[in-house]
Amino acid sequence: MTRDHDRLDGVPEGSRLNLVEAQLGALYEVGSVLSRSLNLRETLREVLTLLNDRNRLSYGMVCLVDQETGELLVSALHNEVPLPFEAVRYRPGEGVIGRILERNETWILPRVGDETRFLDRLGVYNPDLPFIGVPIRIGEEGGAVGVFAAQPMTADLLESRARFLEMVANLIGQAVRLANRVEGEQRALREERDKLRREVKGDHGFESLVGHASSMRPVFEAVRQVAKWNTTVLVRGESGTGKELIANAVHYNSPRARGAFVKLNCAALPDNLLESELFGHEKGAFTGALTQRKGRFEQADGGTLFLDEIGEISGAFQAKLLRVLQEGEFERVGGSRTLKTDVRVIAATNRDLEAAVRSGGFREDLYYRLNVMPILVPPLRDRSEDIPDLARFLTTKIGRRQGRDLKVTDGAVRLLMRHRWPGNVRELENCLERAAVMSETGTIDRDLIHIAGLDDLLPEPPSASAAAPKVDLTDPELDERERVIAALEEAGWVQAKAARLLNMTPRQIAYRIQILNIRVRQF
Ligand SMILES: Nc1ncnc2c1ncn2[C@@H]1O[C@H](COP(=O)(O)OP(=O)(O)O)[C@@H](O)[C@H]1O
Ligand SMILES: [Mg+2]
Repeated sequence: MTRDHDRLDGVPEGSRLNLVEAQLGALYEVGSVLSRSLNLRETLREVLTLLNDRNRLSYGMVCLVDQETGELLVSALHNEVPLPFEAVRYRPGEGVIGRILERNETWILPRVGDETRFLDRLGVYNPDLPFIGVPIRIGEEGGAVGVFAAQPMTADLLESRARFLEMVANLIGQAVRLANRVEGEQRALREERDKLRREVKGDHGFESLVGHASSMRPVFEAVRQVAKWNTTVLVRGESGTGKELIANAVHYNSPRARGAFVKLNCAALPDNLLESELFGHEKGAFTGALTQRKGRFEQADGGTLFLDEIGEISGAFQAKLLRVLQEGEFERVGGSRTLKTDVRVIAATNRDLEAAVRSGGFREDLYYRLNVMPILVPPLRDRSEDIPDLARFLTTKIGRRQGRDLKVTDGAVRLLMRHRWPGNVRELENCLERAAVMSETGTIDRDLIHIAGLDDLLPEPPSASAAAPKVDLTDPELDERERVIAALEEAGWVQAKAARLLNMTPRQIAYRIQILNIRVRQF
């Protein structure tokens, strides 16, 4: 590993000058090739070709350490006949290449065939020619991350050639560092994207739709069927029944799931604003339109547009909407260019659209255009057997928002099942949220439900109460208060009947109701 080959060469100054000039030019080009693209394999191959053609450095090779195995893998090799070098690898310390990596030092071999450590795994080198290998480092005093080696076609000026190889290795090191960083950032972004996708899908996929009531079965079936196609869907049902959730489920289970899900509440805006929200506007289209803006139809291109409360739009706007739905074409407000979009529309309403059509408040042609595939979501009171599952699901969801474990007791669930829920699932969610806010222990019991304001109770446990968890009154886990409440519930809050269930006298149960501070409701 001596560094005095140059002195022994005894070459004239002129050829040294030629060499330096050729090297300067090559260095400049190597730099620009490496910065041209982030595809390291490709740029490295170009660099090696360049060195071969201009600098008489044959069989240029770049090996880089594989982060996972610690082995050196060949990343690029210059050779007239392409070699399947992908399988060639060196362990640190192994052969000439492995030793250069381990020592992190340049190694000049005046005649490579004389070196006993030389493995010639690639089988390309000329044993009579010299061989130079230099470490590739990342950063100033970094360890070696790879090896750059080549076989000069002449035996002169080896010292200068080695220094040149070191400079090229420096440039390669920078390119490797950049490529690693970009790859790391891309990987982080990809991971984040996949995680978000999973979360979004978890929030909006089928898993987020709770219910097994027979009245919900056609709804789930319709969602599953219709998701596959681009058909316009009209989701109908009272407020709070889960129409938006169903629109989400359709989108996230459709082939457009990777596209945007864009929503707009049509009832929230006056006509003129609605138009610019949906179709966008050109700069200066109206006072305040300072810049051009894309509308929801454009934002939803390739995805799904959810038009909530479609029953509320004016006649003039109905005509505009009809055109986009029929032609897939529209203009921005104040614009003359006709734009095309590829959007799947899901609309929702709680209005009786047929009645609106009859009274002239809703265009019949638009009605038919929207009503291609109706999904009718039943009110919660028609599926109260779903209340226990919904209550637990929503409690967990609220708990997640509050960052704590939240539970709802069976007693509370039984109480929830006796409410009419005119505001449907949304009202149930709000009620549980109020109760959760007031719960210090993280448990929502029937008292908290009362406090959260459930007054409009059904007089009799509804027929669906068969689905309510029935309590074993002899269960030793129950404390006395829970036992008395369970008996009262089973007895439909008739105290004498509850007393019999507990083997008590009416006086005894009345006393307990009082001291246990049980709130008794009169029906
Ligand atoms: N089947 C269901 N399972 C779980 N959550 C539901 C279900 N139906 C409705 N919700 C929840 O109830 C709330 C109201 O639902 P939403 O879709 O906004 O109703 P709508 O659009 O019909 O007014 C939302 O928080 C929604 O997540
Ligand atoms: Mg809604």
